[in-house]
Amino acid sequence: MNQLINARLRGRSGLFSLRWADGLISAITAQTDTLPAPEITNATLDAGGKLVIPPLVEPHIHLDAALTAGEPHWNLSGTLFEGIERWAERKTLVTHEDTKSRAHHTIRLLAAHGIQHVRTHVDVTDPGLGALKAMLEVRDEARALIDLQIVAFPQEGIESFANGRALMTEAVALGADVVGGIPHFENTRDQGVSSVHFLMDLAERHNRLVDVHCDETDDPNSRFLEVLAEVTRVHGMGARVTASHTTAMGSYDNAYCSKLFRLLKQAGLSFISCPTESIHLQGRFDSYPKRRGLTRVPELDRADLNVCFAQDSIVDPWYPLGNGNILRILDAGLHICHMLGFDDLQRCLDFVTDHSAQAMALDEGYGIEVGRPANLVLLSAESDYELLRTQGHALVSIRHGKVIMRRTMGEVVLA
Ligand code: FE2
Repeated sequence: MNQLINARLRGRSGLFSLRWADGLISAITAQTDTLPAPEITNATLDAGGKLVIPPLVEPHIHLDAALTAGEPHWNLSGTLFEGIERWAERKTLVTHEDTKSRAHHTIRLLAAHGIQHVRTHVDVTDPGLGALKAMLEVRDEARALIDLQIVAFPQEGIESFANGRALMTEAVALGADVVGGIPHFENTRDQGVSSVHFLMDLAERHNRLVDVHCDETDDPNSRFLEVLAEVTRVHGMGARVTASHTTAMGSYDNAYCSKLFRLLKQAGLSFISCPTESIHLQGRFDSYPKRRGLTRVPELDRADLNVCFAQDSIVDPWYPLGNGNILRILDAGLHICHMLGFDDLQRCLDFVTDHSAQAMALDEGYGIEVGRPANLVLLSAESDYELLRTQGHALVSIRHGKVIMRRTMGEVVLA
């Protein structure tokens, strides 16, 4: 196959034909009319007036823990803390092959839903860095389906875990693409602050991206985002830095947020919200009223800050559901964040495509433009709104010009 006809493109009116050669988009042509469906041919795909977009993106997931829920015990309370206990039990069973096979299985779930770009956090608070070494192999082995960015993620802290700094440094030397952090989990506020300075310096010296689990708590006094943003501003690294979760922002008062947003805009960093995971894990110390436990997604968006949605977990000790479908997360996120207004519905795919690509700094490797990779996804609807309303799907996924996924929708006939 080397062309696609009758495609609708986001932000442009009318129908388009796309051609590609050697894995790169070679032509984007506006059609004056609907072209007749081709004879059955392997060369042309008829989009039938449906949306064709660049691939869906999963910018925050934990592939090293995926598909372990219930092994050996289920998280019965559903809390973050029991999740940590259950993971400690499962961790004793982890092997190199176990990590790799679960990661590959999960990547196939993601690819089956039109995702071709994935950022996974990998726990490096392990003296042997076993999960990281397994994931570095997976990154190469999975190239036919996805591009994988690996975050060196210090689950148990950088400053408050033995040799935490050395493990982070070694993870980067071994090939981690992104430097992570978890300042709110460090033992003291001072350690949280110094961990941010350490990780930003490590990333700058080794030319890596940054994605920090930042203020993932309902505690309104957890204020490491201001530290991350200030270091980002001073070093001019905004395009390369992401703050994940920032759920404490949902509990900050408005006076503090007003000051904070001024800094966030100066810093220009990106944000990732994991709405299904956060509404499940946060709010656990509340009776009623019960907080939603999410960051301020619409407010960040209205302030022209880059914000996107992610899955975080798929069937692990912290979150028992998930099937790889980021459109399910978009649906939930828009509901939870009060974002079902008309204007948001018209462009809601931004939060699982372009915004996520910006957070991952995919740059020229992403988007429907001549000369860029022929990575294209045909959706089952003609617009963002209709896709959301109908709970639509990715029907075809094309990667470097080759079809890697086709989905056939079920048919319903009413009498
Ligand atoms: Fe996470």
